Amino acid sequence: MKILVTGGAGFIGANFLNLLVPRHPEHHFVNLDKLTYAANPLSLAAIEAASNYEMTVADIVDYDAVEAVFRKHEPELVVHFAAESHVDRSISGPAPFIKSNIEGTFNLLEACRKHWKPGEGLFHHVSTDEVYGSLGDTGLFTESTAYDPSSPYSASKAASDHLVRAYNRTFKIPMKLTNCSNNYGPYQFPEKLIPLMILNAKDRKPLPVYGEGLNVRDWLYVTDHCDAIWAVINEGRVGETYNVGGHNEVRNIDVVNTLCRIVAEETDSDEAELRGLITYVKDRPGHDLRYAIDAGKIKSELGWTPKETFDTGMRRTVRWYLENTEWVDRVQTGDYRKWIEENYGAR
Ligand code: NAD
Ligand code: TYD
Repeated sequence: MKILVTGGAGFIGANFLNLLVPRHPEHHFVNLDKLTYAANPLSLAAIEAASNYEMTVADIVDYDAVEAVFRKHEPELVVHFAAESHVDRSISGPAPFIKSNIEGTFNLLEACRKHWKPGEGLFHHVSTDEVYGSLGDTGLFTESTAYDPSSPYSASKAASDHLVRAYNRTFKIPMKLTNCSNNYGPYQFPEKLIPLMILNAKDRKPLPVYGEGLNVRDWLYVTDHCDAIWAVINEGRVGETYNVGGHNEVRNIDVVNTLCRIVAEETDSDEAELRGLITYVKDRPGHDLRYAIDAGKIKSELGWTPKETFDTGMRRTVRWYLENTEWVDRVQTGDYRKWIEENYGAR
């Protein structure tokens, strides 16, 4: 099968391709990515030379570019990861979120409508639990929780989810949708909480905790998310939404303290010194208090449950960031932008 993966050079997309390309030589994977600041082609070094994989640099906001990729590859399955993904950036500058997340999704759906007869193909839309807004101290998000997004990021993802469902109902584009909780693991750009804290602790820089650090996120190891997406693609019901989460609610301050402990253990340094770097900073505007997923549907229908625990996943993640110094250095120095220019500039 020809599979078009959008955003495959980002955090989750790269983990998805690194898992599936070697496992499925019978499928051909095309990675369509604009290579924004959040992308890093180094994340794909292990599969770069695989005969069932290729990369194409394109912007999903450019319909003609999307159309050209569809014409060339005629994908039967689209797995749509590409998006602007950082809430804080969506607050300081929402425009690219509206463009990439809403218009970009629209362009992909239009290309599917043009290239697939009604009922043909499959569009798998990768979305977030942030579309549901914030929970109070109790309760869980289910697939029927009403949408109530708080940030420009989550509003743009909510709009894209609605478009995907509308194209299914109106134009009979087969689709499946997953709304997942916060991911962590290798290849995550260090603007997000967990990699930022690991690298700052390693470098003895302040660990900025928003507000009082009491906001709760339901953390899931990234490869568990990738397995869930693949399970839904292969065994989920067409037209359905599946919530994906780790049943792993942790307050931000507890995440940061856990990271201080693990970084101290892994680098033979003083945990108290690292904890001393914690700095409470001004809260994020519209900061959602709590996210927590009821993953009962994907478990009962498809038998999916996470393999990694928070302890094992966090240890793996810390080790990955400590060991993969080339990846980290390139991201931190901006050197990888030069690499992109050299390797993709002429295309
Ligand atoms: P990321 O920011 O690490 O990567 C996004 C990728 O999309 C990058 O490679 C970037 O170059 C590409 N991209 C962005 N705009 C593009 C455009 N206009 N055209 C082509 N490519 C473009 O994001 P991520 O954390 O890997 O998230 C991937 C998807 O999963 C997103 O749709 C996000 O909403 C969703 N999601 C993320 C999380 C999480 O915790 N990170 C949780 C649930 C859902
Ligand atoms: P983040 O990784 O940005 O994911 P999201 O906003 O999509 O949940 O943030 C996770 C949580 O950590 C969120 O409650 C905001 C908080 N946070 C901090 O306290 N300090 C930071 O420096 C960052 C980036 C996030």
